[in-house]
Amino acid sequence: MNDRPERSAQEFKDLFERCLGEAGLTTRTLRLGVLADTKQDLPENSIDSWRRPHTTTGQPSLPREETVGVLARWLCARDAVTVTEEELLAAWRADKDARAASRKPRADEPSGPPARLGRGEFYEGIIDASIYLGMDHLLGRVDHRLRELLNTGQPIPTYFMYLTHRGYLNWVARTEDPQYSYHRAGVELCESKGAEIAAAILAATGRADVDFVSLGPGTGAKDRPLLESLSAAAGRVAGTVYYYPYDINPAMIVHAIQTVLGGDLASKMLVKGIIAPFDSLGLFSHVYKDRAGPNVLGLLGNTLGNMSDDYGFLETLLASGMWPGDLLLLEVRCHVDEDAGQGPGLGEETKKRLNFGPLEILGAAYEDHRDLITVRREHSRSVIPGTVTTVTRCERVQCGGMTWRDVRLCYVHEYSEADLDDALAEIGYTTVAKLHAGVRGADSERVVLLYLLQKP
Ligand SMILES: C[S@@+](CC[C@H](N)C(=O)[O-])C[C@H]1O[C@@H](n2cnc3c(N)ncnc32)[C@H](O)[C@@H]1O
Repeated sequence: MNDRPERSAQEFKDLFERCLGEAGLTTRTLRLGVLADTKQDLPENSIDSWRRPHTTTGQPSLPREETVGVLARWLCARDAVTVTEEELLAAWRADKDARAASRKPRADEPSGPPARLGRGEFYEGIIDASIYLGMDHLLGRVDHRLRELLNTGQPIPTYFMYLTHRGYLNWVARTEDPQYSYHRAGVELCESKGAEIAAAILAATGRADVDFVSLGPGTGAKDRPLLESLSAAAGRVAGTVYYYPYDINPAMIVHAIQTVLGGDLASKMLVKGIIAPFDSLGLFSHVYKDRAGPNVLGLLGNTLGNMSDDYGFLETLLASGMWPGDLLLLEVRCHVDEDAGQGPGLGEETKKRLNFGPLEILGAAYEDHRDLITVRREHSRSVIPGTVTTVTRCERVQCGGMTWRDVRLCYVHEYSEADLDDALAEIGYTTVAKLHAGVRGADSERVVLLYLLQKP
């Protein structure tokens, strides 16, 4: 018989009751005392829920992280209370971890429906998610925003390629194209070096309760081998891994979760999707900061190389998306020769079609514009020295009675490894490990690089 649920969340409750007893407080006088001294109002029914078993789960609940700090500080400072603030917080942490562990269904147990879907739980195709409501301007009014950009002569940000359902399908088709050798090289790197990467992550953080935040997971093809290795390594030291797929397009999140949980990870990991744009990362970092374990952010597939301000994004990630000790797994594309021509991979026609994608939202037909699309390699599009950028433009776009000229459709940066090393160090990252995979085409060569970086 599994006695874990009865045991969990008892330590905190017992110590909390002892504090109340020693201080001679009731639910009501505790609330009034905290309110008077800290101006923090803890509702009486919340306090009660930490003292008595929940009607459905049979367990008392635990206060939230921001509440337990205030509560422990105030309560343990009462004269008659012999429990220290650290003891009460440690009990809270232990109960929280015990609950997370007891939520994992055991292989030998019939899996009855959970009483309530907790943080990170996956049940019958339902997942726990955070959704950025402020995105309606992107999801509902893509058309309007696109016109604004075109009317003011601004480049179309690359994430527009991924916004719509068509954008999602285009990306899936692209990953399935055998000619898309960069993607294959990245997947193979994660598959062959997954165990090495997982070991390096655990060694660098010194902990096994890792949160893996995938920034733009796409189909999850790289997350899956990484999480299999990470979960196996963490499981050996009794840690639980959380997976947070973070994407602007919910279809990508669904696809990635199905890929990742398609094996036997469903019973070993907890998952919470975050539907939001990257520029809200600071806000959403509080979602994965839910527990004290280290965060590993994944930015894979040269997603950095699609950003007009790549250097600025790396700075923002470090400043507002990571805490000291957190890691960034960064995959980029590097050139071997700055003057090399078109890289290996998809044919020109496929690339043009993909990059033209956002304009189809406005009703512009690709076939009418194909011959007006140019693809050029340019220098100095990124502030990171030595970067070569492939810029796709359309000389003229005509639709719905409007004409726009010189529309910039897409940027793809390819980095110089030595210059990127310097830029990462200058921003403040420490390189823990670096893995390479060569990508060879008919007439030129590129390198896919996977950095494991740490915030000191
Ligand atoms: C180039 S794909 C890479 C997919 C995956 N990491 C891989 O390597 O196969 C970029 C991913 O990032 C997401 N994405 C792009 N720009 C974004 C943004 N500004 N905010 C949130 N997600 C974004 C896309 O929807 C897509 O899933």
